[in-house]
Amino acid sequence: MISFNVITPFPAMFDAVLNESILLKAKQKNIAEYNIFNLFNYLDNSSDRIDDYPFGGGEGMLLKAEPIFNAFESIKSTFRNNKPRVIFPTPDGKIFNHSKAKELSEESNLIFICGHYKGIDQRVRDEIVTDEISIGDFVLTGGELPSMIMIDSIVRLKEGVLNNYKSAKKDSFYDFLLDGPHYTRPRDFKGINVPEVLLSGNHKKIKDWFLNQREEKTKKLRLDLWEKYKSIKTEKK
Ligand code: ADE
Repeated sequence: MISFNVITPFPAMFDAVLNESILLKAKQKNIAEYNIFNLFNYLDNSSDRIDDYPFGGGEGMLLKAEPIFNAFESIKSTFRNNKPRVIFPTPDGKIFNHSKAKELSEESNLIFICGHYKGIDQRVRDEIVTDEISIGDFVLTGGELPSMIMIDSIVRLKEGVLNNYKSAKKDSFYDFLLDGPHYTRPRDFKGINVPEVLLSGNHKKIKDWFLNQREEKTKKLRLDLWEKYKSIKTEKK
């Protein structure tokens, strides 16, 4: 069982995403649990604010250290492992990718801290956070969507979540190749036909065709992955 624990001022944002489709199934199968903690419940004084002006001036507000530390201590006290991974989604973090998702999927407890406004007090980052992660070179309004994206990509790697576990292994990035094209019925849709080879029943030919499609696509769209793929292939030889 992997436990996802999210600290956020906007817990309702998680309702739909964690209660539909594969993420819901993972919960029902006891493979994953999701605990969403409302940051407002961790103020020392309920009349206090969760944010404040930055010292030294500047635009925007910062999330205060106090409620985040309180929430973290309270969550941590329920874990057996005293040093949980604590993820802070932030555009100035290290870029998220498949291997990070795989690494995190092997943990039993993860804590996500959702930042807002201009960010969070640096002392939270220095004292609590273990992983500062960006989901791409663009800026979102808060850490909720990046957290959900990471949770989704981690959960689907857990054995028993996808009906066809093998299919996750064929996904883009598993072996540095992008995924290729897929077709389903009908064979002829508005005069556009499924490639003949897929109807041939010749498994070797089909396998070679898929690999060729994936290689060509990767070469065209992602030279960085293509270089990695080629070097792994040479190593294997
Ligand atoms: N918060 C705001 N923008 C973000 C991004 N690109 N990645 C992760 N967290 C963020």
